[in-house]
This record gives sequence, structure tokens and C-alpha cells, in this order.
Amino acid sequence: MRQRIVAGNWKMNTTLEEGLQLAGDVAKDYIKNRPGDIELIMAPPFTHISELVKATAGSGVKYAAQNCASEKEGAYTGEVSVAMIRTTGATYVIIGHSERRTLFGEKDETLFKKVRLALEESLVPIFCCGELLEEREAGNHFEVVKKQLDNTLFRLDEVDFRKVIIAYEPVWAIGTGKTATPEQAQEMQAAIRKMIAERYDEETANDIPILYGGSCKASNAAEIFAQPDVDGGLIGGASLMADEFMSIARSF
Ligand code: 13P
Repeated sequence: MRQRIVAGNWKMNTTLEEGLQLAGDVAKDYIKNRPGDIELIMAPPFTHISELVKATAGSGVKYAAQNCASEKEGAYTGEVSVAMIRTTGATYVIIGHSERRTLFGEKDETLFKKVRLALEESLVPIFCCGELLEEREAGNHFEVVKKQLDNTLFRLDEVDFRKVIIAYEPVWAIGTGKTATPEQAQEMQAAIRKMIAERYDEETANDIPILYGGSCKASNAAEIFAQPDVDGGLIGGASLMADEFMSIARSF
């Protein structure tokens, strides 16, 4: 059975004090209620990760960085390398979030470099893909996502590809309150699984966790997670409230 995952992408939110409070509340709830068999991941800002890892040690909660540099080290002012991330105690890294693609101009080639570096450093990439509203309205959404994967993850050999997590995040659903319907999420995620089977094989396709992201909250998580090809969620806004986030984690 595929690993079920709920990951919170905090984006550029919380001071360190607020982050400690939030992560502490999440960890406490996770220890007490242990939602069955899920991997719980938080992706706070880089500046908080080490402190939060220490503060929640032993809870079983895992950490992700929200991004990483596309170069290993050197004169890249302001960038954070995969080795730096690993030493914080994070074990995952989000790569290719639509905000990185649209606001910071990150292209597939750069994202592919990041994926390779992350894997070399034994970080698990949580790779985001998803179409814009106009691409969906034009009926191109499957093609767009296929191209995003062809240009990046599908260039990996099977051994490396099997280490990644995919997050389908339709851009029109991110931060808009407009969630994809469970059917829309299922349709795309089944299509992604088929693309994986075509590129690799059925077994690989069946083993890769595919998360949904985009205005997922406690009130709609259960019906989205009930879809056979949805293995969990990448949660933005709703991950900033411990109770809300944990009720999403209990939505399987
Ligand atoms: P929202 O849940 O705020 O729509 O954000 C989703 C997201 O971008 C997670 O990476």
C-alpha cells in the first residue's frame, strides 16, 4: 500500500516564536492521537527548521524545506543548498511549487537540477505540478502536466524516480478557496499514474504517492482523500492552524 502523507507548506508565514508554537501544537496532537499510518510533514521557512526539529524531536513529525538551490555550493548569495537543508534535520524538500515557477521564474531545467541535487543529498523531493486556469479552460491540462513531468522527473532512472513524491496542485486552486472537485483531482491523478506506468511500469506507478494541493481544508479533505489515486495532501493556508491541519490529517 502506498504511503499516505499530509504535508503543510507554511510558505512565508510565521515568526520563529509563532512557528515553535504551531509545530509544538501539531506535534502534541500527533503524539496523542497518532492518525493511523500517515506521514506528517511540515515545511516551515528555512530559518525555523533546525529549531523546530529540536523542539519536536521524538514526535515522529517530519520536516521539509520549501525550496532549495539549483547549485551545490558557491557564490549564490541568498540561496540555500541541499546540504544545508539536510543538516537542519529536514528530510524532504518541496521542488517546483507554482509560486516558485510563476513568481520567481523557475523553469523545468532548473527544477530538474534541484531534483537531482536533492536525491544526491538523500532528501525526498515533493515535486509539484499543475496547470493554470487558462490551460484547463483550453482543455490542455493533461498535456501541460505531462510536459512538466517529461521535462523533469521522467528524466530520472527508475531507482531515483521511486524516491520521489508528486503533488498535483492546480494553480487555479491555490490560495483561491476554489478547490478542485474530488473528481477533478482523481481524474488528473489517475492520469499521472498512467503516465508513470507508461514511462516506467505499473508497479512503479502503483507505489508512488501522489498528493493533492489547492484550498484543501478540514471540510473537504475527506472526500478528496477518499479518491483512489489521492494519497494525501499538500496543504497551504490550512496548515497554519494546528487544529485544522490535524483534522485534515485525520481525514483518511
Ligand atoms: P492553499 O492550501 O493555501 O490553497 O495552498 C496550497 C499550496 O500551495 C500548498 O503547497
